[in-house]
Amino acid sequence: MSASVLKNDVFLRSLLREPVPYTPIWLMRQAGRYLPEYRATRARAGSFMGLAQNPDYAAEVTLQPLERFDLDAAILFSDILTVPHAMGLGLDFAEGEGPRFARPVRTEEDVARLAVPDMDKLRYVFDAVGVIRRELDGKVPLIGFAGSPWTIACYMVEGQGSDDYRLIKTMLYGRPDLLHRILEINAEATLQYLNAQIDAGAQAVMLFDSWGGVLADGLFQQFSLAYTRKVVAGLKRENEGRRVPVIVFTKGGGQWLEEIAACGCDAVGLDWTVDLAAARRRTGDAVAFQGNLDPMALFGGASAIRAEARRVLDAFGPVGKGGHVFNLGHGISRFTPPEAVAELVDEVHQHSRSLRG
Ligand code: CP3
Repeated sequence: MSASVLKNDVFLRSLLREPVPYTPIWLMRQAGRYLPEYRATRARAGSFMGLAQNPDYAAEVTLQPLERFDLDAAILFSDILTVPHAMGLGLDFAEGEGPRFARPVRTEEDVARLAVPDMDKLRYVFDAVGVIRRELDGKVPLIGFAGSPWTIACYMVEGQGSDDYRLIKTMLYGRPDLLHRILEINAEATLQYLNAQIDAGAQAVMLFDSWGGVLADGLFQQFSLAYTRKVVAGLKRENEGRRVPVIVFTKGGGQWLEEIAACGCDAVGLDWTVDLAAARRRTGDAVAFQGNLDPMALFGGASAIRAEARRVLDAFGPVGKGGHVFNLGHGISRFTPPEAVAELVDEVHQHSRSLRG
């Protein structure tokens, strides 16, 4: 990987709590169905996996939001479920239905068959990272990502999304030994997967613990955070002469903030239920924060969007020894008008510059 000069390092510096002239912004799911150009490329690719498995298409859709908006980071276009797909579970995205596995992991025999996949099966992801880095040409940094061991286990056991997590919680309470075995394998697979993304050129990495918040207190620590910590501990933290920051995002994890902040990560992603000032007080600025606008605020019209953006920035307050990366508290809705994103990005840049004088 030729280390092209990074022209905008405000995102990376904020994650490391270094001084920057304004608050950087990117959005979870910034490449996606709210953009007509994404829908056009997806139609050409034929399916979500057709898109994700073709490095040229994946690069094309990764760059689409950056052509429209003045975003401070790019995120690899892929999915957290590529890892269980490589384990042989048979991932399919049925139109309008969300992800589904043909061979979910439910019995003792299913668990005995499960293994860390050969990373060669995920070559298409690492190739996409290489193509995207070349095409970005140092414009902004590229974020790599994976699901947390617990969050991908939810899909592996349920076989699809779930409202009540009945199947995985049946395993958790009835056969915790089986679930721990799955989580061990997921942690090792996720570690190898993220390190290969870093080797291919990812300049920061993020772990999505989207469903950590459905666990009881005490069990979150055992079944989610312990395995997240294991992944974080094994990550390569330097590449191309720069530190590779790690972001951990647990949706619904506000009550465990101190423990998440102590997992070894550089930054914690927050959903919109957490007050940023309180988050800073509770952690003493030992980590940076990423978040945390309610994605639905983007439906309120230009003046509401700008007011809500200022509210988030003002809640964080003077940056001081802290670090703030502006983001939504979860992925952008597919129904968001693209113009709403332009208003948001402009207000975050303008207002944060005025705050930093
Ligand atoms: O953020 C980005 O722009 C990068 C790409 C990205 C996708 N998925 C693309 C995608 C990322 C970072 C993800 C992560 C992901 N995937 C998570 C964690 C983040 C979160 O939202 O909590 C989860 C839980 C998944 C699993 C997943 N993938 C679901 C539940 C779905 C269907 C629901 C939906 O929003 O459609 C997907 C499909 C998916 N992944 C789409 C995109 C753009 C939509 C698929 C399509 O084009 O049909």
